[in-house]
Amino acid sequence: MTKEKIDLEVKGYKGLEAFHKYWGKKPIESWNILINELSTPGDLLLDPFLGSGLVARESIDKNRSFVGIDINPISIELTNFFLNPPKAKDLISAFEKIEKNMKKYLTKTYTWENEIVTHILWNDKDVSEYWVKRKNKKIVLAPDEEFRKKFKKVKKYTIKNFRKPEFFNNARINTNNNLDISDIFTVRALEFIDLLLLEIAKEKNTSVKRALRLLLSSSAGQMSNMVFAVTSRGKTTGKVSTRTEVGSWAIGYWRPQTHFEVNPWFCFENKKNKMLKGLLEAEKVSSLNVNKGVAKLMLGDSEKKLKNIEDSSIQLILTDPPHGDRIPYLELSELWNSILGFKVDFKNELVVSNAKERSKSDSDYTKKFTNIINECYRVLKDNGYLAIMFNSKSKEHWDALVSMQDGYKLNFVGRYNMNYSAGSIVQDNREGGLKNDYVLIFAKGLDSTKTKSIRNRLKVLPEWSNKLPEAKHDS
Ligand SMILES: C[S@@+](CC[C@H](N)C(=O)[O-])C[C@H]1O[C@@H](n2cnc3c(N)ncnc32)[C@H](O)[C@@H]1O
Repeated sequence: MTKEKIDLEVKGYKGLEAFHKYWGKKPIESWNILINELSTPGDLLLDPFLGSGLVARESIDKNRSFVGIDINPISIELTNFFLNPPKAKDLISAFEKIEKNMKKYLTKTYTWENEIVTHILWNDKDVSEYWVKRKNKKIVLAPDEEFRKKFKKVKKYTIKNFRKPEFFNNARINTNNNLDISDIFTVRALEFIDLLLLEIAKEKNTSVKRALRLLLSSSAGQMSNMVFAVTSRGKTTGKVSTRTEVGSWAIGYWRPQTHFEVNPWFCFENKKNKMLKGLLEAEKVSSLNVNKGVAKLMLGDSEKKLKNIEDSSIQLILTDPPHGDRIPYLELSELWNSILGFKVDFKNELVVSNAKERSKSDSDYTKKFTNIINECYRVLKDNGYLAIMFNSKSKEHWDALVSMQDGYKLNFVGRYNMNYSAGSIVQDNREGGLKNDYVLIFAKGLDSTKTKSIRNRLKVLPEWSNKLPEAKHDS
């Protein structure tokens, strides 16, 4: 049977894929090709650095079985959601119940002169404008002293239903170890989150409950003091307009002086609408709720968890490890993990962090990375494949990777460049990375006829080469 021609068009994240941010999310199209080309239905696939978990869903959809590991609890939650999404109609009825029960709080907190306040624009501690909705139209209003009095920022609030986040001294992501949850949220937002968690806990349907919790974590950034204000420039005149638009929480914990407080209910509702749209679309086009392969997810450190996997059992490892100091995943995900009450194993994260107290150095990274690759080699079948995404400026990290060929019978098949859609870089942080993200493909034990045919098919991929990239790190 002749296979279809390979096409690597990256469409960007849409529908369900887009409703929750995850740091360093990679376009799934690049992995899809490898699932099709390097494995067949019934095979067992592995990703020891799961991240957003989209690769799990693609593998299962393509009738493969799958093992996924990640140290980040939110990664496992997201993957679980992709594998076991709720029914759209169940989400709608759960949401309606919550809305009814939260009404009293919202009316008390965000009503001004009989209207619901949707946004407040803060300049440090002063309000410069607020917005209400009239007949679905945004109305910008000037606050008076009474408004200021009601909405002034108070710092005292003891959270009840989630844990305090743990922050380190990391200037790169604007955190320090005195940073408190009430620096990040207003008391109104914190009370809202507390109450919402109580409401969600009442839900009996597990997949709906998990989805609601993810709706809360995905909307938390927009409920915070990290939503910057954008003053737009007129497209035709080039003049700076007086209109201020709502930006969004991007990356890190920067709290701009001029920022929006968005009514948290609208943040939650907005995400619900996105999720619902995605669920309805998915229900129309596929048998989303019918799992074809079997998936096993493990929360924890891959160095340890991989030991639970049998020797020579995996056909294909598709993975994208943390790239040195590019993204401190657990530090950045602390906002979500604390709100959802997850404990976090900072100690065993594979990362190089600027937070000195974490003692996460280049050489620790290399040692751990090498141990994990050793385990990957052990669990791989003869003639199985390891496809690894790699991008690090550090010579040490490159050397560790490149030496895989010498240390094991892992043979290099080829590599290509990961393509991105125009809008996707917002979830990443180029600083500390090379210009290209490479996907490097290795085979355990080389069947030369097979390799030739694979190289022939994959050579249409961007910048395909049968040679390892030179370690042209710039530091
Ligand atoms: C580059 S991201 C993966 C992103 C993923 N490819 C995607 O598209 O979303 C690397 C992942 O490794 C995880 N990680 C870091 N240290 C780990 C460890 N020791 N064991 C397992 N996972 C770890 C991080 O939590 C992060 O989710």
